[in-house]
Amino acid sequence: MLGVDACKVLEFPRFLDNRGNLSFVQNFNHVPFEIKRIYWIYDVPGGEGRDGHAYKNNQEVMIALSGSIDVIVDDGQEKKKFTLSRSSQGLFIPSGLWRTMCNFSTNAFVLVIASTKYDSGDYIRDYNVFKCLTSYDRE
Ligand code: TYD
Repeated sequence: MLGVDACKVLEFPRFLDNRGNLSFVQNFNHVPFEIKRIYWIYDVPGGEGRDGHAYKNNQEVMIALSGSIDVIVDDGQEKKKFTLSRSSQGLFIPSGLWRTMCNFSTNAFVLVIASTKYDSGDYIRDYNVFKCLTSYDRE
């Protein structure tokens, strides 16, 4: 299993001109996996967050298309906080890390690019189970 240092802020292409800015993501070029799914999170009350979880297989890139959020990643030993507030940047989170999205700004609109289709069986929702699995993994 990868540790928190495997999380990376990706810089997407930016085309800036007086008509406004444009960024894009293309399969394989800008995210380190094949894109299978996209979902988005919006209308989160300001200052609120979402419950944490980990995925056994799914990898993700999170982009704050507007507003800002904090993402706390945790490998069972170490935690790292990323603040996302630029629509031309995305946070890559490999599988196997606990992630918590918190501190949404009132206008936050977060796009998530995922490497797998939705599978409820891929979730680890209990932090104690996650801790157990990561400690086995280190043995
Ligand atoms: P979930 O991932 O459980 O969000 P959170 O852990 O932050 O509450 O998703 C909430 C609901 O949305 C859940 O019932 C499953 C559904 N869902 C899908 O059907 N497809 C998806 O791609 C996602 C992300 C969620």
